[in-house]
Amino acid sequence: MNEISRPNNLDAFWMPFSANRSFKASPRLLARAEGMFYYTNDNREVLDGTAGLWCVNAGHGRREIVEAIQKQAAVLDFAPTFQMGHPIAFQAAARLAEILPAGLDRVFFTNSGSESADTALKIALAYHRARGEGQRVRLIGRERGYHGVGFGGMSVGGIGPNRKQFGATLPYVDHLPHTHAPEHNAFSKGEPAWGAHLADVLESLVALHGADTVAAVMVEPVAGSTGVLVPPAGYLKRLREICTKHGILLIFDEVITGFGRMGTNFGAERLGVVPDLMTMAKGLTNAAVPMGAVAASEAIYSAIVDGSPAGIELFHGYTYSGHPLASAAAIASMDLQRAEDLPGRARAMEPYWEDAVHSLRGLPNVVDIRNAGLIAGIELQPRAGKPTDRTVRVFQRCFDAGLLIRTTGDIVALSPPLIIETPHVDRIVKTLGDAIRAEAA
Ligand SMILES: Cc1ncc(COP(=O)(O)O)c(C=O)c1O
Repeated sequence: MNEISRPNNLDAFWMPFSANRSFKASPRLLARAEGMFYYTNDNREVLDGTAGLWCVNAGHGRREIVEAIQKQAAVLDFAPTFQMGHPIAFQAAARLAEILPAGLDRVFFTNSGSESADTALKIALAYHRARGEGQRVRLIGRERGYHGVGFGGMSVGGIGPNRKQFGATLPYVDHLPHTHAPEHNAFSKGEPAWGAHLADVLESLVALHGADTVAAVMVEPVAGSTGVLVPPAGYLKRLREICTKHGILLIFDEVITGFGRMGTNFGAERLGVVPDLMTMAKGLTNAAVPMGAVAASEAIYSAIVDGSPAGIELFHGYTYSGHPLASAAAIASMDLQRAEDLPGRARAMEPYWEDAVHSLRGLPNVVDIRNAGLIAGIELQPRAGKPTDRTVRVFQRCFDAGLLIRTTGDIVALSPPLIIETPHVDRIVKTLGDAIRAEAA
């Protein structure tokens, strides 16, 4: 056991999105990881059912990525990208542009999904302003959407607890309804047949506010953090049509749906809709170094860049935009994704995955199961008067039995590394099923 695996004081670290008091009273510490597994500080093997946080798509500790980071750190640890450049940031952007949907080939680097969301929203506003439509300031998100924790993403996002604690959100924001209606789409496999018409609410919002005030609509192709809501068949195409009709930019938040998780490079490809802006993070570097990105169309880039007077064209950026270590990790990770055809592996595994997770139907308190790509959500009946209690306990049971799952509200969300094999799928479903049954007893 090394020093890192033995913290002796848990006080200082104010943990994000965590129940700090209960965690510190009974900590769960992951000390190392390899392939499909984490190992706890007491060396217990834990199967990773969540690819960390939807991000370690190629599995843990990949040598190719580790070596690329080590090599880069020795050559150039840091150099600014404000009015300066270093080769590897340009290489990473060009490499990413190769796999982005056709039409999206300009890349702005950030350090996280949250920064990507706020960056995309700001680019949308700057784009309209550059074209002389500065009155387009309204941003439309969707109920239950998650776009990180910056003020832009929090405001356009639609998860109540993430907003209510802070009071102040951005003005000029409205929301589409979410697409979950268990009476119509419970236990759907893949895209639910019911619900495309919910996209038409965008027409109503446009009529209410005036098309010439709306800058952008931002949605996740598959909403993840709220507990896996797969878009109804035809829904995103309808959103695309309405946005195009009214000159509104469509932003896809592909922070979890990117880099193979949907069986394609991006959710946009799988769902057959190309947005104007796309946000990314997580799987971009296989999570080995923080990095996010926003992809924009040439039209958006040139409206802002070519349309500005000489000098800085976009007053936005992060010290670490295109950080050399992150760029190295991104290139190595995208190379690995291509060499091992991770999107293809996810696609090939999807039918087995779908059958396996839907086999939990009929267990006590399972009220819905939904899936797309290598993602699944299993919704449990909340315990009367004690929301989230059931899933918190299922989570602990799984962890004790050697499986990491994620819970959000009363929903279990699964998103394993894309290198998963069928025995891992079986183990996830068996361990989770046992925990759900035990919690019903
Ligand atoms: C769709 C989506 N957008 C944004 C984010 C925020 O990413 P980060 O935590 O890297 O800021 C997440 C994180 O889960 C996400 O799922």
